[in-house]
Amino acid sequence: MFFDCLRRREFPTTITIRDGAQLEYLPEPDIFHDVGGHVPMHTDPAFAQALVRFGECAASAARRASSIADEHEKLRRLTSNIRAMSRFFWFSVEFGLMRSARSDGALKVYGSGLLSSFGEIAYAIDSPDVQRFPFQIEWVVNQGFEIHHYQPLLYIVDSFDHLFALVTELEQWLLAGKLDNVAPGDPEVSETDLASFLHGDKAPPPVTQP
Ligand SMILES: [Fe+2]
Repeated sequence: MFFDCLRRREFPTTITIRDGAQLEYLPEPDIFHDVGGHVPMHTDPAFAQALVRFGECAASAARRASSIADEHEKLRRLTSNIRAMSRFFWFSVEFGLMRSARSDGALKVYGSGLLSSFGEIAYAIDSPDVQRFPFQIEWVVNQGFEIHHYQPLLYIVDSFDHLFALVTELEQWLLAGKLDNVAPGDPEVSETDLASFLHGDKAPPPVTQP
């Protein structure tokens, strides 16, 4: 599954490309988004480490689900876990903002959905129509999103070390059962998603802190 690739420091990318009428914005990932948005971020060691940590969190979700005997309960909890992790990923790796450590505290974009959208970068930073809040897990994992327009709600981290700490906390929440009943809604979790978590890879090794 995709998250297992992260854990192995791999990043699958698409090779599709947007046409000229969609230069400013495209809902689905294309090569600009993946190779121009995501990949350069991976040269930052702290960000890359947070991505690997995210993959480890997903592996923990798979292991935990596999240990639940009741099939209905297994799928119910895993659906909620995947929804929570997808929302976390969306509001960080895809559409995250960062508060500059400089004295002016300026906002910067680091999410690839923003980096690969010339129009949305300015909108995310400057528009009065965007709500921007400090990144809080309890909000993010319960917050649905829509992919077909500029994002009206964005969350801010202080640094990539902060993001790493948040991913670690996310896994702690997962293991404590605090992601088993997140708010319903987008994104949908398909049977294919569930199968890839339960059967995609052999059981990964126990997670160790780097
Ligand atoms: Fe993406």
